[in-house]
Amino acid sequence: MNQQVALVTGASHGFGKAIAQRLTQAGYIVYGTSRSARPDMDSVRMRVLELTDAASVAACVEGIRAEAGRIDLLVNNAGRLQLSLLEEAPLEDVDLLFQTNFLGVARVTNAVLPIIRRQRAGRVIIIGSLNGLIGISGMGYTSAIKHALEGYAEALKLEVEGFGIQVSIVEPSFFKTDVYERRIESDILRIDDYDSLRTIIHAGLEKDSRAGDDPALVAEKVLEIARAPQPRLRYTVGKSAAMLATMKRLMPERWFLSGLRSRLK
Ligand SMILES: NC(=O)c1ccc[n+]([C@@H]2O[C@H](COP(=O)([O-])OP(=O)(O)OC[C@H]3O[C@@H](n4cnc5c(N)ncnc54)[C@H](OP(=O)(O)O)[C@@H]3O)[C@@H](O)[C@H]2O)c1
Repeated sequence: MNQQVALVTGASHGFGKAIAQRLTQAGYIVYGTSRSARPDMDSVRMRVLELTDAASVAACVEGIRAEAGRIDLLVNNAGRLQLSLLEEAPLEDVDLLFQTNFLGVARVTNAVLPIIRRQRAGRVIIIGSLNGLIGISGMGYTSAIKHALEGYAEALKLEVEGFGIQVSIVEPSFFKTDVYERRIESDILRIDDYDSLRTIIHAGLEKDSRAGDDPALVAEKVLEIARAPQPRLRYTVGKSAAMLATMKRLMPERWFLSGLRSRLK
């Protein structure tokens, strides 16, 4: 059988870098992307792709199709973080987050789907987040957009499975990457009423990000999904992710919210 071809968006850092490297070790031909031109990384063939720019996405995917002839696995990983209380967020930042983390995924998926539909076989894996299952205060817009990706992935799975295309979404909890430092951040609209809540939330989020897991776990999970004969739609990964997702599903809402509320004191 021919070597499988994978496209991993956002392969210059964090999860994407770990995923791209793990897939090459597992025998895939891997194309990775970054917003800027970068030399190939080990065996990962780096290409330029800007999620917010439809022409950049189209040129990148067409270049890979012309060179490799096929794409068997798309890992929609690239994305950013936006931290702020909801009322304090500059809406231009929210717009950029949506353009990047939601429409960016749709742009790349729509560019790749014609290739894998023609093949009648392929996989799309979306890197969602635990905060696509739980609305996390202090990263509410990031949460809202990851919730949107949950609906997107579920609907997509049913629309394309008839063409032999498998769709899965991965829901990592907190991991040690540079996403926190590289977040979208202009000056917040500071509202005095939120001063103490803001301080508590930011201290909590910083603590969570320092205690994060190793991105290699996410890379291993992606490989497991890529190889699964019948992959599920949803996969949690990381400390407490499965437990929190189950608690949210099974606990009375009042109890679950009081658990979240206790983080804000
Ligand atoms: N870290 C966590 O705890 C965590 C938890 C749950 C989910 N996630 C999700 O995991 C994914 C990867 O996050 P990470 O933690 O690995 O972040 P990261 O270390 O900051 O890496 C983000 C990657 O995305 C690329 N990227 C950013 N903006 C882009 C744009 N506009 N167009 C194209 N590429 C862009 C970056 O490439 P360049 O900068 O080179 O362009 C980089 O390779 C994101 O979707 C994030 O929401 C992360």
